[in-house]
Amino acid sequence: MATIESILHETRLFVPNNTFVSQANLSSIEDYHSLCKEAEEDYLGFWGGLAREYIQWHKPFTQVLDESNHPFFKWFDDGELNVSFNCLDRNLEANSDKVAIIFEADDGNVTKVTYRDLHIQVCQFANGLRSLNIKKSDRLIIYMPMSIEVVVAMQACARIGAIHSVVFGGFSAKSLHDRIVDTAAVAVITADEQMRGGKGILLKPLVDKALDIGGAGSVRSVIIYRRTGTDIQWFNSRDIWWHELISDKPVYCEPEWVNAEHPLFILYTSGSTGKPKGIQHSSAGYLLGAMVSMKWIFDHKLADIFWCTADVGWITGHSYVAYGPLAMGATQIVFEGVPTYPDAGRFWKIIQDHKVTIFYTAPTAIRSLIKLGPELPKKYDLSSLRLLGSVGEPINPEAWIWYYKVVGQSRCPIVDTWWQTETGCHMIAPVPGVVPLKPGSCTFPLPGIMADIVDETGHEIENGKGGFLVIKRPFPSLARTIWGDPERFKNTYFPNDLGGKYYLAGDSANRDLDGYFWIMGRVDDVLNISGHRLGTMEIESALVANPLVAEAAVVGRPHEIKGEVVIAFVVLKGLCPQGDDAKRIATELRNWVSKEIGPIAKPEEIRFGNNLPKTRSGKIMRRLLRAIGRGEQITQDVSTLENPEILEQLKQSIT
Ligand code: WTA
Repeated sequence: MATIESILHETRLFVPNNTFVSQANLSSIEDYHSLCKEAEEDYLGFWGGLAREYIQWHKPFTQVLDESNHPFFKWFDDGELNVSFNCLDRNLEANSDKVAIIFEADDGNVTKVTYRDLHIQVCQFANGLRSLNIKKSDRLIIYMPMSIEVVVAMQACARIGAIHSVVFGGFSAKSLHDRIVDTAAVAVITADEQMRGGKGILLKPLVDKALDIGGAGSVRSVIIYRRTGTDIQWFNSRDIWWHELISDKPVYCEPEWVNAEHPLFILYTSGSTGKPKGIQHSSAGYLLGAMVSMKWIFDHKLADIFWCTADVGWITGHSYVAYGPLAMGATQIVFEGVPTYPDAGRFWKIIQDHKVTIFYTAPTAIRSLIKLGPELPKKYDLSSLRLLGSVGEPINPEAWIWYYKVVGQSRCPIVDTWWQTETGCHMIAPVPGVVPLKPGSCTFPLPGIMADIVDETGHEIENGKGGFLVIKRPFPSLARTIWGDPERFKNTYFPNDLGGKYYLAGDSANRDLDGYFWIMGRVDDVLNISGHRLGTMEIESALVANPLVAEAAVVGRPHEIKGEVVIAFVVLKGLCPQGDDAKRIATELRNWVSKEIGPIAKPEEIRFGNNLPKTRSGKIMRRLLRAIGRGEQITQDVSTLENPEILEQLKQSIT
């Protein structure tokens, strides 16, 4: 960390200004160093101390970390707590009249709930769930729009010890079905419809469809929040309105005290092979990560108006909408709509209207807003902002500078936060009152996070060179397993080639000579589309499931706004289609993928061929496809290619 000191004087760095530093939670390099040092010298003492300080325990723990069953670590294992109690009840004493959520609907309508209101809503809904005989450890699927209710649903599950799995509202009935089956969920919580950009998008009919597919017999109840009142089909045997479920329920619900390691939720995310992985998080370790990162990285204080724009369908919406802010007693914005409706000034207007102080969004959103109105933020009063954040993919320096100058008016530090569904909370990110920023770098690991960069044998790489990003010691917020598949958890994240010791993130990174981390991207076949992870495998399986398709391979192509787009190479069962035929089938396949997975997975381009480029042993040569998809010259070695003529055909066949 000595390097930080040495470069503090360099003017091309973005050093936090005095106004920010003077109020920051961590404002001196000494405080910061002493945290890092404490973690290095007494790792368990460090985390144990934080767990006692941040979490209110029902029963205190006596052991900090149990590493005996590597890599299935247990933290604070004999302690007992309830996450919803920590988010709500704890705030009732001092903050009961404080606004917890400012909800802005798609049409601009604003609803505010205080901590007291939210506590009542969560208790009533939790009692409603109990009345349906839903118990501790049961799984529930939540398939809802951004709303106060979705936060209530998640918190209510936590209150009774049930395990939620939120499915993003943009996913298809098929994706929903797969998650229902994999978790053997007993109930689905949904809404009749969601509103986005002035349009209603039905949700409940997709639940019906998912349950119709078969194999989803575990679901006993579907609870429906009435968002718009549109007509929906009703099944008396399983459907129940949210408002009817809670109407006669008591306003207090005794929390279920659970073990620190009790699963809080499962969230599905893409990997390079096979079906999406049900990432399972713990209660205490996860909560602790969400809380300390709110304090250190978001520099959160009670007076802040916090806004994380992520949907609760993703990990960011779990840690920095549903749990972290509430556990810290924050006032936060929850926004139903889209950044471009009614116009591209919507985000800036929300910041102005609600005097947002901390704003956290994704580079893809920033890039699209630059394109739609680089001068637009200047029309709004953004003087309330004091800190900006970025997440989901590397932020390119041009977008960073625009965000810094135009949105933050050169006043607000930007916290570029690197983390993953699996890590639960920020791992590498600047502590904003201390660390000088370099546009495009997520800077340094959080105190207590032993991140490093290694080669394929697990050996440390010197600064200035690229390698695999790893975390060398277990940390509290790390996912505990893949739901139902512990072997896969071990093989994916603690692979033998690294000696099984380190957590392997699946990203490549390098550290510059000042020790700053720069994330280069995924090392596996995972695409990052508009900040969302999608496995190429999933899209390929969806394509191959179409009766016309014999074989498919998918690659990513960099895209100015979305980060990456999907390019699909497809071999049909019949002849390779030409002209209008090719166009028609391509459209059909795009819609097919959209239906199978969701619109975000839709291929931008489909190229048909008689075959795919393969090695003599039959392996698809993806790097060649990547070059074709990107319109690059093929400079790679093609000597192992069985069928070189196929490259020409694939190059020509854009639809
Ligand atoms: C990428 C999102 C660079 C990375 C929280 C990671 C980033 C994947 C950043 C996880 C960042 C996320 N800079 N890359 N600040 N944040 N990523 O699970 O490739 O949806 O592995 O979690 O997003 O995506 P996930």
